[in-house]
Amino acid sequence: MKYIDLNKTEAYKNLGNLAQTGGSKKALSSEMVRQCSVPLAEGLVFNWAARAIDDDVLDALQALSDEQGLIAKYKALLEGEVINTGEGRKVLHHLLRSTDGKAHTGKPVIHEGRDLGDFYLKELGRFSAFAEKVRSGEIAPGAGKRYTAFAQIGIGGSDLGPRALSIALENWAAGEGRKALRAEFISNVDPDDASRITSSLPLDETLFVLVSKSGTTQETLTNELFVKEKIKKAGLDPAKHMVAVTSETSPLAHNPVYLDSFYFDDFIGGRYSSSSAVGGVILSLAYGSDVFHDFLAGAAAADKAALETDIRRNAALLDALIGVWERNFLLYPYTAILPYSQALSRFPAHLQQLDMESNGKRVNRDGKPVTYSTGPVVFGEPGTNGQHSFYQLLHQGTDIVPLQFIGFRESQRRDDAMIDGSTSQAKLKANLAAQITAFAHGKSDANGSKDFPGGRPSSLIYGERLTPRTLGALLAHYENKVMFQGFVWNVNSFDQEGVQLGKVLAKKVLTKTGGTSGDPVLDAYSGLLGV
Ligand code: F6P
Repeated sequence: MKYIDLNKTEAYKNLGNLAQTGGSKKALSSEMVRQCSVPLAEGLVFNWAARAIDDDVLDALQALSDEQGLIAKYKALLEGEVINTGEGRKVLHHLLRSTDGKAHTGKPVIHEGRDLGDFYLKELGRFSAFAEKVRSGEIAPGAGKRYTAFAQIGIGGSDLGPRALSIALENWAAGEGRKALRAEFISNVDPDDASRITSSLPLDETLFVLVSKSGTTQETLTNELFVKEKIKKAGLDPAKHMVAVTSETSPLAHNPVYLDSFYFDDFIGGRYSSSSAVGGVILSLAYGSDVFHDFLAGAAAADKAALETDIRRNAALLDALIGVWERNFLLYPYTAILPYSQALSRFPAHLQQLDMESNGKRVNRDGKPVTYSTGPVVFGEPGTNGQHSFYQLLHQGTDIVPLQFIGFRESQRRDDAMIDGSTSQAKLKANLAAQITAFAHGKSDANGSKDFPGGRPSSLIYGERLTPRTLGALLAHYENKVMFQGFVWNVNSFDQEGVQLGKVLAKKVLTKTGGTSGDPVLDAYSGLLGV
């Protein structure tokens, strides 16, 4: 497989020329809105009519995709090539979504004689059965009680994805009349986080899900002990109130202090681990294992759709390449995720980690500095709330921010009210259509402060309703988009060395000898804070 820097490709020159000659200029028309759509999976559609591209740019992006071998690299990843070269690891989160234990290309993934698809399926089966026994009361905390609440302890990838997904399913479960149990999350080492959650839970009926891939994360291990103290103070046995989810090689593994333990391995990156026990245990406990299986099926459908080589028929690939065009040729440094769905309120926070921890890199796969921009700054909030906040800058600020809208025809709860001639869901959708149009067209006004320049690009992912399957497809879409962009930029999207330095310095502060960490600036700041 040939890995080369973006600016060494032929396509890079062509795209640069197109950017010089205004290749992205086009007026948005109603035909384009109807035509510029590609199925994503599970009934979701990616509509790119209002993105800043035309057919010439698309052709050049297709050439870039072919030249960088994006689909060939994706297939190699699926089949277990060591794509994460920095850490010498395979990248196998797609395999978690396979129902037959084989890669989406049909091949088994064997590592040192072990069939990894079988291992992932076995763990899926184990935690699915465990969750059903807990939900039925067969596994119980004792004293005639049942588990009625769950709280995940984890941070980063062991928190953001599972939390975003759990929130996303709450209203869906209510709308379906499903038995959903309470799911909470403790992540920050700020004691107010663990204190607030533990004091609001019925501890005698709560099962904590301790999640750490490495088993060494300071915040998570601190919160584990914080919670165990509370459990003990309540006169309960911590061993009946905590399960562990970790990698097989972590210091937390195979420890009888947990009621049970569920495993994955180093080939599942933290921010890509929602499809493993990291997301699966809490979602199965709270909503039922069939819900998590449906979520996986939706993700698998999007993974398979992402194998298509024609960029006009591959939503994740197209979304990725348009992002590259905007980042490297139109030079837009930001992108916003704007879901018109309260269910997706924490989805932008998850995508911040997914995208920025993956592609926020200044060196290529060989550790050599790149001379072009890589991952953009990602932020977002659900609409319509964002409209009353930062949309001012999006409409009239000095920077152009490409926008990624997400919307659904139906609400999750199907509990709506007709007010002033329209339902709330209709109001939500009207706002979404209005914003896309306003950003694209703008509005001239002689009064500068009332003038909207327009030409602010956006795309829309839309579908009928946010369900476990569509949620899985949506998550996989973004994972695959980030992966394709990493291939284009020739960075390793699967390590995260940039988060290490701060951890080391924090440790130095906490283990000062003779009152100093050895770094006067660090000492001065920790002095200000009273550490
Ligand atoms: O500090 C960053 C990070 O390593 C993330 O990549 C990861 O998702 C998070 O910490 C939590 O790690 P762990 O699951 O090993 O506790």
